[in-house]
Amino acid sequence: MSFKSKIRTIQWIDNISRMVDQTKIPYEYVTIDISTGDEMYNAIKTMIVRGAPAIGIAGAHGVVLYAQELQKLNLPRNEFITKLIEKSKYIRTSRPTAVNLMWAVDRQIELITNSCSDTCGIVEELKQNAIKMENNDIAINKKIGDYGAEVVPEGATILTHCNAGALATAGYGTALGVVRSAFAKDNTIQVFSDETRPRQQGSRLTTFELKMDGIPVTMITDGMCSYFMKKSMIDMVVVGADRIAANGDTANKIGTYTVAIAAKYHNIPFYIAAPLSTIDRTINTGDKIPIEERSCDEVTYINGKPVCAEGINVINPAFDITPHELITGIITETGILKPDYKTSIKNAFDGIRV
Ligand code: MRU
Repeated sequence: MSFKSKIRTIQWIDNISRMVDQTKIPYEYVTIDISTGDEMYNAIKTMIVRGAPAIGIAGAHGVVLYAQELQKLNLPRNEFITKLIEKSKYIRTSRPTAVNLMWAVDRQIELITNSCSDTCGIVEELKQNAIKMENNDIAINKKIGDYGAEVVPEGATILTHCNAGALATAGYGTALGVVRSAFAKDNTIQVFSDETRPRQQGSRLTTFELKMDGIPVTMITDGMCSYFMKKSMIDMVVVGADRIAANGDTANKIGTYTVAIAAKYHNIPFYIAAPLSTIDRTINTGDKIPIEERSCDEVTYINGKPVCAEGINVINPAFDITPHELITGIITETGILKPDYKTSIKNAFDGIRV
């Protein structure tokens, strides 16, 4: 049973990409129109749009924007295609960890390479492909949500980390998609949201979108999760993913690994919720997943004010890898994958239902 969410994070409208500006939440809930490929590159890099599936769609929109710009130059078809593929490869590098970005841009590159249309036709086909990706993303999230809701105990308190919600996708969400579908069946469930330092996606975004949709949420700081697990106040953990290796090792927002260890120690189920497009079968284990290093200012400043002594050393990896042994199940649009993940992931891609 799906829940009606009010949030639509990113959408192609006429000739532009309209997205919620996530850097402004919770102070303002406003959209921004992106009308060039370079603007899209910056929107992804500066996290105006963020979350693995959402940046995938943003990447697909970015390719359409570059195609529109190049079409105005009236280039010969071959030159148009070469330049467009170059630009597409550039947008693919705007963030390194979430594989959905590469997945979505590669779908667009495939279309460009295989199309028999003239330049005008290619632009239109890219646009339709991007719109299809948006709609598919929401449909996939609802399936993930419905499969996940089946393993949510009655009246459960679900802990989540970062934001894998409507704001991290075209709409509905992956981890928060599970929450939404579970809430539609049982309105006694509630969410505990980790603050998620340093960019505070948990406190800024997860609490905001759950409040907007009327789902009860309690914010805790990152270091509190084991305290509440020990007190039997958490029944399960559900988080999203930026990239899943072929053996189930999962990259997600920094701090996820700590939550997974704490959950294992306290015997609490720990689920990943993600579409199959987040699984990178070219990577066998998590240690091969590229981890984005972000500016130290994200750690040393909060709201433009320094929070530590000037000049100290800081390291700021944006993601960590949760080893597959700590994961109870991976909730996908085809069902819940269980260990051993090498086999269940392969089966899912071979169309063998779980
Ligand atoms: O740096 P961000 O905000 O893009 O990181 C987002 C996350 O880590 C999410 O949990 C992940 O992308 C899953 S989104 C459905």
